[in-house]
Amino acid sequence: MDSSTASLYTSGPFATYLKASNEKQLFIEHFRRLYLRYRASRLYGGQVKVLDLGCGNGVTSQLVMDMLTERGQKFHYFGVDPHQGQLDQFASTVSAVSGSQLSLLQCDLAGFDTSEQFDLVIAYQLLYHVPDLTAALRKILSLGREVLIGHHGPRGIHQVQEQFRQHVTGGPHIISTDSEVEAILAGLEAEIGERHFERHGFVASIDVNSFRNHNLVAFLLQCDPAKLDDSLLYAVHLYLERITSPDFRLPHDVGLFTITNLTHPRL
Ligand SMILES: C[S@@+](CC[C@H](N)C(=O)[O-])C[C@H]1O[C@@H](n2cnc3c(N)ncnc32)[C@H](O)[C@@H]1O
Repeated sequence: MDSSTASLYTSGPFATYLKASNEKQLFIEHFRRLYLRYRASRLYGGQVKVLDLGCGNGVTSQLVMDMLTERGQKFHYFGVDPHQGQLDQFASTVSAVSGSQLSLLQCDLAGFDTSEQFDLVIAYQLLYHVPDLTAALRKILSLGREVLIGHHGPRGIHQVQEQFRQHVTGGPHIISTDSEVEAILAGLEAEIGERHFERHGFVASIDVNSFRNHNLVAFLLQCDPAKLDDSLLYAVHLYLERITSPDFRLPHDVGLFTITNLTHPRL
């Protein structure tokens, strides 16, 4: 991830996306239910050790920490991200919870070196940025007993990136779907071992009424807003108008993968 794409998350584009989309809210609603499948949800003595890879500015991490707090679970939450500006935002906005701890580490996934095993490893919307999906998934699976992975599905951000592929900054690995992640995970039988692997998902929506907005388009294409010219903005505008009219809400698929130790009845 270069510095201009990294700054998408500390400046207007990510904030604009968060305002326009219900993705994070739907994520936590789903995860709250899925969490009951995790052995971690039954650990009440001491702190649950959670590793959040690619935690960014903590907007999703805060929702997870709030959920743990509501459940009465103390936690030690480890946030890892290579982009210090986002970690600084995280540290300045997080709400402290007595009996729980937060540690933030500036590091990328490949460089994250620990002998610690976490109760729960979260890699939510991180995998677009890694150059080698298989190596990244192997590493994620090795870091804890139970894992949650989230990745875009075919409709929504992915669809816009496919359409405007040549304008997406950061390399082709940015453009992948949950089906590719699932296919790789299905081949990592040895790494998954006795654990139970399931695919879930939900459909969020993005209000693209403001699709002339540089920040929203820059976020969708993961490119520098300053480099968006009028003709590209207009082309994105026409495309979004065509696929979302009349309500200007873009359905956005999100795949969730749970890797758990226990198989509970469906809840
Ligand atoms: C789409 S954002 C998701 C942020 C957060 N998980 C959320 O859902 O709000 C992707 C994050 O991954 C981080 N990232 C990029 N490359 C990474 C890598 N190689 N290892 C770990 N994190 C990375 C970025 O800095 C960014 O914060």
